[in-house]
Parts: sequence; C-alpha cells; structure tokens
Amino acid sequence: MERKTFIKTCGMACMGGMLLGPLLEGCSSTKMIPGTIAGSDLVLPTTAFLTRSGKYRAYVVVGNEQLRFPICLYRFSDDNYSAVLMRCTHQGAELQVFGDRLQCPAHGSEFDDHGVVKTGPAISNLRTFPVTIQNNQINISLK
Ligand code: FES
Repeated sequence: MERKTFIKTCGMACMGGMLLGPLLEGCSSTKMIPGTIAGSDLVLPTTAFLTRSGKYRAYVVVGNEQLRFPICLYRFSDDNYSAVLMRCTHQGAELQVFGDRLQCPAHGSEFDDHGVVKTGPAISNLRTFPVTIQNNQINISLK
C-alpha cells in the first residue's frame, strides 16, 4: 500500500470512529453502577449519570451485593430523582428497564419511571425510596 493511501485510509477510519462514538453512546445499553452502603443509605456520585460527552443519562441501575434486587434511579433534574426497586409486585421477578418503562419478563407487567403500574397483571406499584443530594452524592434511603 502506498504511503498516501495508507494515511488516507487511517484518517477515514479515525473519522468514522470519532463520529460513531457519540452515536453509539446515545443508544448504549443500561449503565450499571455499584452503589456503596453507608448506614441505611445506598450512595453513588452524581457523576454516575454523566456520559463521556458530558450529557446526563436519564437513568442508571444501581446494585450492591447486599441488595437482592437492583434499584433503577431516574434523573429528572439536578435535584429531582426517582428510585424504584426492580422487583415486580406480581410474583417477584426482576424487572428490565427500557427508557422510562420497567417491564417484567415473567408475565408482562409494566411500570413507569415512578414505579406506578401501567399494565398488569401486577396491581401494586413498585417500592420506591427517598432520594437526597448532598456534596455531589446521591443518597438513596433504604429504610
Ligand atoms: S412476576 Fe411480574 S408480571 Fe408476574
């Protein structure tokens, strides 16, 4: 391969990578965050929502080995979050998150981003947790 052709090919590949990165980031799968237990809170940094391009994700899934089910944490603004336990209220299956919806793979129940039932067979809303922000930390109260 000629030097000029090689440089041109490498340049095109780099440009493609630079353009695809942000596009793929936008449709990337759910971000899993390991939270830290501090007293009765599950704690994570506010930066957990930041993408590499500096934008905020709409939600992250927070887990800890002491929790049987993860918590889906939605971010609506700097000080407005919603934390919902990803355990279906029908028969206890672990939910899957798809944007602003949580769906149950067992029998199809659906919940919104505040844990409210939208589609049965579940009839009860999801367990939710109070969320506070302090010193760039998100505290999910597990009490
Ligand atoms: S366990 Fe979720 S709908 Fe049945």
